[in-house]
Amino acid sequence: MAVRRLAQQQPESFAFSPENLEWAKRQITKYPPGRQASAVIPLLWRAQEQHEGWLPEPAMRYIADMLEMPYIRVLEVATFYTMFQLAPVGKKAHVQVCGTTPCMLRGAGDLIDACKKRIAPHQHELSADGAFSWEEVECLGACVNAPMVQVFSDTYEDLTEDSFNALLDTFERGGKPKPGPQIDRLYSAPEGGFTSLTDPRLDQGSSSEREAAEGVETGNGHHVEPTSEEASAEVAGHPDPTGLPEEAATRAQPTGEPKQEPATAEAPEASAKATHEHAVAQPEDVAEGEAKPAALDSPRNGKPDDLKRISGIGAKIEKTLNENGIYHFDQIAGWSDENVAWLDNNLKLRGRIGREEWVHQAQALQSADAEGKGE
Ligand code: FES
Repeated sequence: MAVRRLAQQQPESFAFSPENLEWAKRQITKYPPGRQASAVIPLLWRAQEQHEGWLPEPAMRYIADMLEMPYIRVLEVATFYTMFQLAPVGKKAHVQVCGTTPCMLRGAGDLIDACKKRIAPHQHELSADGAFSWEEVECLGACVNAPMVQVFSDTYEDLTEDSFNALLDTFERGGKPKPGPQIDRLYSAPEGGFTSLTDPRLDQGSSSEREAAEGVETGNGHHVEPTSEEASAEVAGHPDPTGLPEEAATRAQPTGEPKQEPATAEAPEASAKATHEHAVAQPEDVAEGEAKPAALDSPRNGKPDDLKRISGIGAKIEKTLNENGIYHFDQIAGWSDENVAWLDNNLKLRGRIGREEWVHQAQALQSADAEGKGE
């Protein structure tokens, strides 16, 4: 790995924008007292995103102060990981070319030559118009789709010199190429379509194409709108982007349109509760090991909690939860494994609740809010 040095010209200072500061404070609450340093990577990444794709030295000191870390510790993190750029990068694209063995054997050298010709003769130099820069990095974990490059947060795989030049043309025009394999295959499936496990009923899990086509939110809370191309596209030879038979496609309805459960009617004995909380009758087809969580008819005192403070919940999922009677952190904090299983299956959350630790996050937010109120 090349020596990574800070840029000679640095801005005077750095501070998070109000929105990013609010976000950073939320990240820090995810960790127990005394362990705030664990938030260093997400905070550095957000600072880089805010500062035109590179991380200035004042931002490292700013984050070190926020996390009560010695400056040298943050500097060590920023200089170790190639995801952090230590000098200005191209405004339209900073191309990270994987130069590790599988990619090299499959043509990464041609991609590097193209970078030298089209962008700049040396790594970390800006192109004449400042729109592009490039560097060679170690394995980016997509070896099966070698050779590949990463541009900002996306990877572009199964490249040839021609398809790589076409990518650069698209960036040059201000466009954004479709990430992933640049040949006719889905992820790392065989070219030309599946050769095994071809029964579409087996494929009811998540796929980014399907999530994009459904307009769901990604793990970082960003909403992914389906492009017209994606909405109508064939995915690896499946004319229907879901690739599911009618019955299965019905089950895979979008996250934002939860199945209406008749069970939201309030149970008579529970209606007497001042909290309006009710145990919802289980639908007849409730699966073993699942239990629908208790729901509210409306938020308490007309004031729902901002569920988007839970990392992984964006506006669309919050709306879905509200439509299912979930308005408050304490409701989420009390979900059992059976509740989580029900929500995963019925709201099509595909394991996100556990993966993103919504219950723990809700517990932390509930305690933080209670402390704030002096309870
Ligand atoms: S070798 Fe290039 S992604 Fe792993």
